[in-house]
Amino acid sequence: MPHDTSNRFSATTPIYYVNAKPHLGHAYTTIVADAVARWHRLLGEDVHLLTGTDEHGLKIQQAADAEGISPKQFADKIAPLFEQAWQRLDITNDDFIRTTEARHRVGVQKLLQACYDAGDIELDVYRGQYCVACEAYFVEEELVNGNCPIHQRPTTYVEEENYFFRLSRFEQRLLDWYAKHPDAIKPSHRMNEVIGFIKTGLNDFSVSRKSLTWGIPLPWDDKHVAYVWFDALANYITAHGYGSNDEQFSSRWPVDYHFIGKDIIRFHCVYWPAMLMSAGIEPPKGWAVGGWLLVGGEKMSKTTGNVVNPLDLIDEIGVDGFRYYVLAETPYGNDGDFTYEGLTQRYNSDLANNLGNLAARVATVVEKKCGGIGPKPNPSSPLAKIASEAVAATTAAWAEVQPSRALDATWSLIRATNSHLEQNEPWKMEPGAAVDEVMGDALEALRIVTILANPALPNTTQEIWSRIGLTGNVIDLRIPRDVAWGGYPGGTKVVKGDPLFPRR
Ligand code: ME8
Ligand code: MG
Repeated sequence: MPHDTSNRFSATTPIYYVNAKPHLGHAYTTIVADAVARWHRLLGEDVHLLTGTDEHGLKIQQAADAEGISPKQFADKIAPLFEQAWQRLDITNDDFIRTTEARHRVGVQKLLQACYDAGDIELDVYRGQYCVACEAYFVEEELVNGNCPIHQRPTTYVEEENYFFRLSRFEQRLLDWYAKHPDAIKPSHRMNEVIGFIKTGLNDFSVSRKSLTWGIPLPWDDKHVAYVWFDALANYITAHGYGSNDEQFSSRWPVDYHFIGKDIIRFHCVYWPAMLMSAGIEPPKGWAVGGWLLVGGEKMSKTTGNVVNPLDLIDEIGVDGFRYYVLAETPYGNDGDFTYEGLTQRYNSDLANNLGNLAARVATVVEKKCGGIGPKPNPSSPLAKIASEAVAATTAAWAEVQPSRALDATWSLIRATNSHLEQNEPWKMEPGAAVDEVMGDALEALRIVTILANPALPNTTQEIWSRIGLTGNVIDLRIPRDVAWGGYPGGTKVVKGDPLFPRR
């Protein structure tokens, strides 16, 4: 049955390994995906956001062994920490998949069988280097001083009878597909990296392990379990019902974006579309590839040990302050340096001094000069044009998956409104038409900002909305309809309240 997918938007985050607690790097990708999903809900689209946990494989087996418990017991302890962290960060995921769930197992087996039946999975012998932290094989040329190029730690020599996925057969099909979908990978320089990698020639990869039992058995040979990456990638389709609810699956697949970090680009942009092609399934529509957050110049990771707990940052700077920092500080796709000073500086400059100051000023002047009742905006206000430009630039940047640019465009309206107030100095005027005109325009600009900034600041924008006397939920508003100049009704009570973003 054909489905109308024009109004749908769906996105995924990586499913994170449960060998340790969530850290700032995981929160980073999850917040970006959530903010983009929230933006698309404001556009009135039927949005689905998926996240989850990756629970099979040697890495989890080893972590469980170290604690003397079973891998399932281990996963059952850690997976809820991810769910709880995402709740605290106001992540609006519609689903949370664990790879130990039955719906996942049946879907993985169906995918394996489909690739096997297509003749693309065959038995062979693997000899070479394996990095457990990556759960990936490396050829000698990829090692750096004999170490894994990502974790800079020694790899292990492995020799094992394995089933192989014949990735080498997919070079041309992948190149042809990407040629037809030149905008599929954002930012675009990552596309060049993927094409370059495919053109150097693709090696078959092992899709099973015989020495491991912690995984999903191959449907045609249960002495082997599926390779953890084959298992993990499949979450993107099993969560939507592949193998367990095929009608739902066909209505939801392909997704618009897989949000991932650059560390896992080959798995996602090379292996995954080839696996899908083999099984006769369409590749995803797109990938949004983020850079790394670095601490002291190194990738924050469990393996490096330089992790920052996102929940500590919430305690320090608030949920919205933390979300805003992650979204605004680093252009998505670039590496970023995490520092506590940077976090505080960003908060003080953009939230305390700009947005917080605007909201406080508007409420104070309306209270003193307008009897606490917000005046109507002026249709020909000089701010009207600036607002419509900010809406257009914000919209374009979210469409490019560039939250930092989107927020900068939104903040241009905040900055313009603050200068408008400074030029007019309504606090020095006598109550009357002139003050009302300045304040009605400022209120209207603030109203538009609360909608545009809502994906980043879901709590404080709702608070501003109520303080300026408006009812209902910001998440139920629609862009562009509700961000057109002139929507503030006037005549509503404006209240000051406590500082939204106390300076740190
Ligand atoms: O790779 N900076 O899971 P993982 C930015 N289970 N992002 C970071 C980061 C950092 N320092 N550290 C981690 C896995 N991330 C697999 C994925 S998907 C089918 C299977 C984010 O727990 C980033 O999104 O190692 C990265 O790709 C992901 O966490 C890796 O999480
Ligand atoms: Mg990792």
